[in-house]
Amino acid sequence: MILTIDTKPFDDQKPGTSGLRKKVPHFQQPHYVENFIQSIFDSLDGYEGKTLVVGGDGRYYNREAIQKVIKIAAANGFGRLLVGRGGLISTPAVSCIIRGRQAFGGIILSASHNPGGPDGDFGVKYNIGAGGPAPEKITDAIFARSKAIARYKISDAPDVELDRLGVTRVENTDVEIVDPVADYKALMKTLFDFEAIEDLFASGFKMRFDAMHAVTGPYAHAILEDELGAARGTVVNGTPLPDFGGHHPDPNLTYAKDLYDLMMSPEAPNFGAASDGDGDRNLILGRGIFITPSDSLAMLAANAKHAPGYAKGLAGIARSMPTSAAADRVAAHLGIKCYETPTGWKFFGNLLDAGLATLCGEESSGTGSNHVREKDGLWAVLLWLNILAKRRISVADLAREHWATYGRNYYTRHDYEELDLGAANGLMDALRSQFATLPGTAFGAHKVSAADDFAYHDPVDGSDTEKQGVRIMFEGGSRIVYRLSGTGTVGATLRVYIERYEPPAGNLGQDAQAALADFIQLSRSIAEIEKRTGRTAPSVIT
Ligand code: G1P
Ligand code: ZN
Repeated sequence: MILTIDTKPFDDQKPGTSGLRKKVPHFQQPHYVENFIQSIFDSLDGYEGKTLVVGGDGRYYNREAIQKVIKIAAANGFGRLLVGRGGLISTPAVSCIIRGRQAFGGIILSASHNPGGPDGDFGVKYNIGAGGPAPEKITDAIFARSKAIARYKISDAPDVELDRLGVTRVENTDVEIVDPVADYKALMKTLFDFEAIEDLFASGFKMRFDAMHAVTGPYAHAILEDELGAARGTVVNGTPLPDFGGHHPDPNLTYAKDLYDLMMSPEAPNFGAASDGDGDRNLILGRGIFITPSDSLAMLAANAKHAPGYAKGLAGIARSMPTSAAADRVAAHLGIKCYETPTGWKFFGNLLDAGLATLCGEESSGTGSNHVREKDGLWAVLLWLNILAKRRISVADLAREHWATYGRNYYTRHDYEELDLGAANGLMDALRSQFATLPGTAFGAHKVSAADDFAYHDPVDGSDTEKQGVRIMFEGGSRIVYRLSGTGTVGATLRVYIERYEPPAGNLGQDAQAALADFIQLSRSIAEIEKRTGRTAPSVIT
């Protein structure tokens, strides 16, 4: 039976950079999930009888929330739900299934790389029929609806068995439990030269993939080990756990330290990689070398032609504003455009749909292409493998060759987490108040050429998005960018992005923190970070 339940609005259901994220206990409040899901459906038109994809990253509360989504979606008249077995589907695979099966949209239960468990984070995100995150027009409508909602519809049917493939009927809706890996694996086979990668592994090439006890475990086992013949044991931490084994499922040098240490040791395999909670981020390491995500985007773009899916060339490249300009140099070389967008994958959707960009990337370990409308961790790993298989070159040599051709954009990001919100906003306002005076000011050898707040005009739908990060640009192409995170759940997180360009003939082999030391100091003094936040050092450096 379909029940109509009276409810009261919550005032804090505003989707951030990537959906609604809160602590688990917050989501566990009575009606909290229900209100938000109903607000999503109330903001959409014409889904009756259509298909909705539902999956999550397996974190704590995933199963409970999926049952609620199933019952509310059925009560609201969806025709079919495609739910990942065990409640699991990686974010890029949700996008793949939405597109491949022409679904109306999808709901992803994930807080990405944020920690999980009873006191960890949880999240809900809506993706549209093109497969990507809902654009702001829709997320704004969802938020507006959530502030006015008075009732939701829900079926009182029993819970659906999530662990067995097959179809159950809930009200008038077919709920199909699907294999979360199959469609995705099939798509990867159309893009990459699986035979060449198999030959690479057969030749003794060794790899470690750290799934961080998150959603990519089943994907990596199936594709890397079962399909491509990588040795058993290549995939570590391959079983998804509700609390990610107590770790922070973010594939960076802080949280994937074991992998990093291995790759820097004499026992290092040829290639190391990791992915995050929901499988959209990636970490790429070679023997003795970390490839920054910004460099990875540039290197993949320069070598994409080695993969069958990209052999015809790239239409364009897109990167988020804080991502380094390394990809711009490759685009210039290829004679294609490089688009600069605000932070967040949703801004790439229009460019991909319009065929203006083929590859996209963000400095925050996100790389992807027009094959889906999300960033895709395992895809990036497979593209790297495809390139290494075809070129038979080490990761370090490929990087050196790249820098010798294009120059090197030394890059780092310093995060100051869990700051007082007022202090963080004050810091940003104070930076904005310096826009008039900074240009022309010299800090030692470094002269500011411009300072502004990044604003984006979408060339496809004409929309404008303002205040997307404070940029301080220096003569010679160096830059410091400041923005506040839109995904954190505690206080404010200040992200400081620091970049300096070294031409091909310059000193290309330095440690990034050393190469950027001047600008790191400047990033602290210009923003008065210590005075305003009490912090003398960042919490995370990537
Ligand atoms: C962060 C990253 C951003 C990414 C987002 C979702 O957002 O910086 O690039 O798209 O997570 O994975 P932020 O917390 O900075 O708003
Ligand atoms: Zn993620």
